[in-house]
This record gives sequence, structure tokens and C-alpha cells, in this order.
Amino acid sequence: MRSLKHFCSLLAVAVIASVTVGQPTQAADEAANLIKYRQTTMKAIGAHMGAMAAVAKGEVSFTDEVAGHAHAINALSKNLLRLFPKDSGKEAGETRALPAIWEKWSDFEAAVQKLSDESAKMAQVAEGGDVAAIGQQLGAVGKNGCGGCHETFRAKQD
Ligand code: HEC
Repeated sequence: MRSLKHFCSLLAVAVIASVTVGQPTQAADEAANLIKYRQTTMKAIGAHMGAMAAVAKGEVSFTDEVAGHAHAINALSKNLLRLFPKDSGKEAGETRALPAIWEKWSDFEAAVQKLSDESAKMAQVAEGGDVAAIGQQLGAVGKNGCGGCHETFRAKQD
């Protein structure tokens, strides 16, 4: 019994030690990893848009899934700003994020807010289940949400 207790306390110490050792990598996300994560997140947002577009075009009938995709984009938009810390532009790796992001930060914040607003509205419209209305709002998300930001803050593909 005593040795079991001893073993348990040793185990606890080991767990605490490993958590402590793990911390430095959590504190500062390496720029290259952050950029990759940012691009993966954008691709995920793009995939949600693609899924909603398939419904809007009538390719599939899953109208009741549109709100889920819209909510997912909305949730990701809430944390989008922290994926663009200073010094995560070209100087940090392969990225299409333009210097304009940090030069016009308040405009960039507004572009993120636009995506938040339009995706929230998308979720609301989706609840109605009207495919034409879904298509119309999807266009607004694409134009004002995605396009509004990409136009100014994302480098054209080379
Ligand atoms: C507030 C600005 C902003 C908004 C809003 C935004 N994007 Fe982006 N997006 C960017 C930036 C900047 C990049 C380039 C990121 C990089 O290369 O590090 C990007 C990259 C991408 C990429 C390419 C990812 C890759 O493979 O490298 C896709 C796809 C994408 N966005 C889709 C979307 C869609 C779809 C929406 C709207 C639902 C959207 N984005 C909204 C700024 C934005």
C-alpha cells in the first residue's frame, strides 16, 4: 500500500514535470508553423464555403447542414486576428499575407468583423431553409467577407 502511494506521487511529479517541459513550445508559436496553421484554417473556411455552395447550387439537398458550416466560419472568424501577429509576413516564410495587414491594422480588423457579421447572417438565413435565400447570402459572404479582405490584404497568386 505504501509503495503504491509512493509510486502515485512519483507519477504525479513525472506528469507535472512533462507538462512544464512542454510549455516553451506553447508560449511562442514558431512563425513557420503559425503560417501553415493560418493557411490550413483558411482552407477549412474555404471548404465550408464550398459545401454551402453545393447546397446553394442544388447539387445536394442538405439544406439543414448549411447553418453548421456558417457557424463554423463564424467561430473561426472570432479568432482570426490572432493568426496574424506582427512579423508573420514574407519575412517569416511562404505566405500571401501582405504588409498592408499590419500597416492598416484597423482596416484589417474591420475586414475580419465583416466576415463575422456576414457568416452570422448566413447562419440565420440558413435556418429558414430557403435555397434561393441561402444562395443570395452566400454571395454576400463571398463578396464582402472573403473578397473584401483578399482584395487588399492577400497577395495575388504567382
Ligand atoms: C480578414 C481577412 C480575410 C478574410 C475575411 C478571409 N481571408 Fe482568406 N486569406 C487571407 C489571407 C491574408 C490569406 C493568406 C494567408 C497566408 O498565406 O498566410 C488568405 C488565404 C486564403 C486561402 C488560401 C490558403 C492556402 O492554401 O494558402 C483560402 C482558400 C482562403 N483564404 C479562403 C477564404 C474564404 C473562403 C474566406 C471567406 C469565407 C476568407 N478566406 C476570408 C485573409 C482573409
